[in-house]
Amino acid sequence: MNQDELKQAVGRKAAEYIEPLLNSRSIVGVGTGSTANCFIDALAKSAHTFDGAVASSEATAERLAGHGIAVYDLNNVDELLVYVDGADEVNPDLELIKGGGGALTREKIVASVAKKFVCIVDASKQVDVLGNYPLPVEVIPMARSSVARKLVALGGEPVYRQGVVTDNGNVILDVHGLSITDPCDMEDQINAITGVVTQGLFAKRPADVLLVGTSTGVEEITR
Ligand code: A5P
Repeated sequence: MNQDELKQAVGRKAAEYIEPLLNSRSIVGVGTGSTANCFIDALAKSAHTFDGAVASSEATAERLAGHGIAVYDLNNVDELLVYVDGADEVNPDLELIKGGGGALTREKIVASVAKKFVCIVDASKQVDVLGNYPLPVEVIPMARSSVARKLVALGGEPVYRQGVVTDNGNVILDVHGLSITDPCDMEDQINAITGVVTQGLFAKRPADVLLVGTSTGVEEITR
């Protein structure tokens, strides 16, 4: 199977995985990216079994609505049963790097509200140590250079993601060259930089369940 087929397989599996959890009042949190899109397309088949979804990006909201799934503002939702999203890297503790698609802040907010975070990846995303994939940091535009200097002081090489403005009107610095052996500590250190909105490390709120698409089938790993 090629990578697209693995993403489709894991997207289908995630829809099957959450189906028994859903009832007519359930709201599902939905992530962003090509793997999350496969999940949305598979979820559309069970659209009649749950109430609606909260989207982690404008692109996801549009895709959900295109399938006739009701999209709710998070402010109007009391409880999110489950959040399903992809990742750019995942380590054996189910800590993640996310934000390759630029939706990290809303992804982090939706994940923080959800009772259960189901992460869906193809096997190429599994690593022992996070950081080979450049860590996305969402920054208030006027703080871009000052934040970049502080990221250099942490040992990273920040690169401005040219031409990208997030759904929240901010910019992204992709931080290369980090070997993130203590993800919670790195998350704290970057969060403490003034001007940072959020960063793509999901260590303090890791995934609860990982579904991995491999050539021999979808593997389930639980924390
Ligand atoms: C979006 O901002 C990201 O966090 C995605 O979840 C991540 O980049 C994975 O994307 P793909 O599923 O497209 O690889």
